[in-house]
Amino acid sequence: MYELTDVTKEYRRGKATVTALDAVGLTVPSGSRLVIQGPTGGGKSTLLQLLGGLDRASRGSVVLDGTDLSRLSEAKLTRLRAERIGFVFQGFHLIPTLSAQENVETALVPLGLRAAERRRRAAEALDSVGLAERAQHLPSELSGGQQQRVAIARALAKHPQVLLADEPTGNLDEATRDEVMDVLERRWRELGLTFVMVTHDSALARRAERVARITAGRIEVSGPVGGQPPSEAVPPKGLSMT
Ligand SMILES: Nc1ncnc2c1ncn2[C@@H]1O[C@H](COP(=O)(O)OP(=O)(O)O)[C@@H](O)[C@H]1O
Ligand SMILES: [Mg+2]
Repeated sequence: MYELTDVTKEYRRGKATVTALDAVGLTVPSGSRLVIQGPTGGGKSTLLQLLGGLDRASRGSVVLDGTDLSRLSEAKLTRLRAERIGFVFQGFHLIPTLSAQENVETALVPLGLRAAERRRRAAEALDSVGLAERAQHLPSELSGGQQQRVAIARALAKHPQVLLADEPTGNLDEATRDEVMDVLERRWRELGLTFVMVTHDSALARRAERVARITAGRIEVSGPVGGQPPSEAVPPKGLSMT
């Protein structure tokens, strides 16, 4: 479970300071899914980077299962990232000269697994996203949707506890978008992952259990376990409930 308290992230740009996140409070229970929406520049990617330990908060705490990520040494943070966090980005970030199988295996190197175990896990992960037959193909021989499914396999082959996806269908056409969303949703359910995804897909947001909106660094969560309860659940001040 994630517990964020008063998380502020500031970037320096010359003499100016940009507040990308402004005192964000958020809880993400283990195994739950949270969809994040909001305008460009609102702070969505910044939040995902802090959740994944790719960057540190300027103030506040980002706690994952009792560990405050902002207090970990660089070495421990790198290890936590390699073992426990899977990332999927808008651009697929595959290595063009490696096959799908090799791209997935590469992500397992930091785990110190034997080569045979890396091969087995990579093959299993590719199979789980429906790409067993494409394992030997180069990224350039795959469609956009297939490339993103390789990236999903790469994120999941390490058996992470958390999956973070930043606009994973942003570069895809409509038909392919559904194929990738379906794979993400199915694997989230099957693996019991904690899943945080930035997406503009409004159909998905409608069926998501919880949706957070981030605008100008401020977060507002709607759903059963939000930072704040949904506004209609709060009786207006001065009105009796009876
Ligand atoms: N590395 C950075 N250096 C300076 N400013 C940044 C950096 N990353 C993000 N920002 C700024 O922080 C704000 C939030 O950005 P971002 O988290 O990427 O928003 P979103 O993903 O919602 O579009 C924006 O004003 C953006 O310009
Ligand atoms: Mg972004």
